[in-house]
Amino acid sequence: MIRFDSVGLHYGPTPSGQVGAEVLRDVTFAVPAGEFRWLLGPSGAGKTSMLRLMYLAVRPTRGRLGLMGVPIHEARRRDLPALRRRIGVVFQDFRLLPHLTAFDNVALPLRLAGRPEGQLRADVTEMLRWVGLARRIEARPAELSGGEQQRVAIARAVITRPALLLADEPTGNLDDEQAQRLMQLFNEMNRLGTTVIVATHNDALVQRHPAPALVLSHGRLIEDR
Ligand SMILES: Nc1ncnc2c1ncn2[C@@H]1O[C@H](COP(=O)(O)OP(=O)(O)OP(=O)(O)O)[C@@H](O)[C@H]1O
Ligand SMILES: [Mg+2]
Repeated sequence: MIRFDSVGLHYGPTPSGQVGAEVLRDVTFAVPAGEFRWLLGPSGAGKTSMLRLMYLAVRPTRGRLGLMGVPIHEARRRDLPALRRRIGVVFQDFRLLPHLTAFDNVALPLRLAGRPEGQLRADVTEMLRWVGLARRIEARPAELSGGEQQRVAIARAVITRPALLLADEPTGNLDDEQAQRLMQLFNEMNRLGTTVIVATHNDALVQRHPAPALVLSHGRLIEDR
């Protein structure tokens, strides 16, 4: 499902023309389809950058990256959107569309995929109910708390039943009970075949849900356990 081979990434150039140092260096690992991985490491270690590579927001500046059998480092740009549609992402900063209601934010990926209106209403409502937002369906992001926004972002990421689910600190704004519920959702999707990668600082959560982990430190993969 995911294969990194000596991948390096640096951002830049900056407005002053400087290319930054590599934020990921010589990262090599593979995650077979259907597996679950924690993505761990201190702030600034490169977790979000690694997820960005996996959801095709950036391309490796070095090395080889394969996703669902497609060699990303040499793929044509026009081949990427179809691949991207099979990936669900919970962004660290949510990225909800501010002018859309919770319902419309969650419905968006289904609409983009061409699902008829009559066939999406029940799914979207059910998913929002599952994350505890049945009463906030018509609210816009600015009217929602941080945890509520995070739950809309989670619902949007999973509504299409993606082959690959990437979640960046998805419990950052959730209480314990909601975090447990979220893990239940991710485990259920994983059981049904979705490959799941979850970046987190939440040690308690990781201890409660033991699973293999990729551990980053200063842009290097220091553990694949
Ligand atoms: N767009 C960018 N341009 C330049 N440098 C960046 C950019 N985004 C991140 N970085 C740098 O890359 C390094 C890794 O950042 P990244 O966001 O991947 O870390 P992280 O592990 O997700 O941290 P956190 O746990 O705080 O979210 C950091 O040194 C950061 O300053
Ligand atoms: Mg991050």
